[in-house]
Amino acid sequence: MRIDVLTLFPAMFESPLSYSILKRAQESDIVEIVLTDIRDFATDRYRKVDDKPYGGGPGMVMMPGPVFDCFEYVEKLSPEKGRVILLTPQGQKFDQKKAVELSKEKRLILIAGRYEGFDERIRIGLCAEQISIGDFVLSGGELAAMVIVDAVVRLLAGALGDEGSAGDDSFSEGLLEYPQYTRPEVFRDMKVPEVLLSGDHEKIARWRRQMALERTKKHRPDLLKNNF
Ligand code: ADE
Repeated sequence: MRIDVLTLFPAMFESPLSYSILKRAQESDIVEIVLTDIRDFATDRYRKVDDKPYGGGPGMVMMPGPVFDCFEYVEKLSPEKGRVILLTPQGQKFDQKKAVELSKEKRLILIAGRYEGFDERIRIGLCAEQISIGDFVLSGGELAAMVIVDAVVRLLAGALGDEGSAGDDSFSEGLLEYPQYTRPEVFRDMKVPEVLLSGDHEKIARWRRQMALERTKKHRPDLLKNNF
């Protein structure tokens, strides 16, 4: 997979992309992540990318020119057309189902905005899908783009390596994940449930399913309503 990110702050991505699964996935060519600075497409000598909103009001709005020019440049960097996503709190809510859907694409082009928002002609003209990572407002789309990159890349074949598969993750079956334990067998008087030491794989699978159901019922009953 190739992921292009259009952003005013490419440096914000350096640390999250340099550790653990995201780092290894890039090193082993499972994903190529390319950052492009929207400010490089500003046309005036102050490298201006935002301006006051028509009609008045607080804050600044992302100008369409630099975003369009940046997008048209990035689009041509690879023959694969790609799925274009604008990060905005006005978008459709991101969830595990969407992560799985996006992980099947060959190319994603993520556009992270700043300020009070995008000039509406960016939304209209780029025909981008709009995605929000939750009902709260971030200072910009960068963290949202990172969340999507992380959730998608770990689903790519080979990305988790020895750490196992994403199949048991919370939400992968519409349920929260079952409780996990590792050594020691007893920690501060809390014992690992007997069933997990039994070696009976069928019994363990049943117990885990039961625990996942109970946990979901207790903490996220909305998930059960949606899926069963
Ligand atoms: N930009 C600002 N807030 C956001 C959110 N919740 N999701 C995606 N992009 C955003």
